[in-house]
Amino acid sequence: METVDNLLERWSGRELAIGAADNAGAASADVVVIATPWDGATQTAGSVADKLRGKVVVSMANALTRIGKEFQPLVPPRGSVAASVQAEVPDCLVAAALHHVPAKELGDLTEPIESDVLICSDHRSAVEITNEIVGKIPNMRPLDAGELAMATPIESFTAVLLQLNLHYKTRVAVKLTGIPEAKIAAERAASAAAARNAAASAAGAGAAKDGAAKSDGKAKSAANDRQPKDATPA
Ligand SMILES: NC(=O)c1ccc[n+]([C@@H]2O[C@H](COP(=O)([O-])OP(=O)(O)OC[C@H]3O[C@@H](n4cnc5c(N)ncnc54)[C@H](OP(=O)(O)O)[C@@H]3O)[C@@H](O)[C@H]2O)c1
Repeated sequence: METVDNLLERWSGRELAIGAADNAGAASADVVVIATPWDGATQTAGSVADKLRGKVVVSMANALTRIGKEFQPLVPPRGSVAASVQAEVPDCLVAAALHHVPAKELGDLTEPIESDVLICSDHRSAVEITNEIVGKIPNMRPLDAGELAMATPIESFTAVLLQLNLHYKTRVAVKLTGIPEAKIAAERAASAAAARNAAASAAGAGAAKDGAAKSDGKAKSAANDRQPKDATPA
């Protein structure tokens, strides 16, 4: 509550639709972000599993430890925090994202953030919705980094960034070269359109009266809906 009050006071010129809630309340949102220390992420997701069913869950936790002056990546079960969360709640749609964005800059609504955000997921819709959210933050570029298996190197790479922060006494962010801006813009537009369609379908599903039909729809939406890029028809 105090955190929310502080945020509302800090950004009093803006209409922020935020409120305090416990984990169950937070998990009632349409899209849920898990931003706990890495060793609490899976348990936290599991504790609200019933509320996460069928939803996009953004995992931004990094499994790291510091030994002396060195940051070391840890390898959690299934290779990444994001994959552990997906295994804990199989019928939600985990997207791993935002691991490399410095918290201070992310929390400053007045300054654009010069940063790329690598997004990976086994669910096309999770990538699209995360892409749409990230794309709304000025100067941030959401990038589709592939399936959830990519969360392993993405999370581990954070140790390198923290090491650079320590060495150069700064807060680095990731910015990749060589990706055509037009492609990023097209992907962003497609994601925004898909997110709008998903919201419309969800509203339709919410209105459905047949409970059995609803649960069947959710099970389908949680299946791996990402097509292998190079797959050839059998
Ligand atoms: N800081 C960054 O710049 C940054 C950037 C990108 C990603 N991340 C990742 O985001 C995650 C959070 O980072 P942070 O710096 O915000 O960490 P933090 O301040 O230590 O933790 C965030 C919140 O997690 C809750 N929490 C603490 N221990 C928990 C546990 N065992 N189980 C469930 N919840 C717990 C706490 O909420 P309550 O106080 O309400 O208990 C705390 O306020 C980390 O995994 C980090 O790797 C951080």
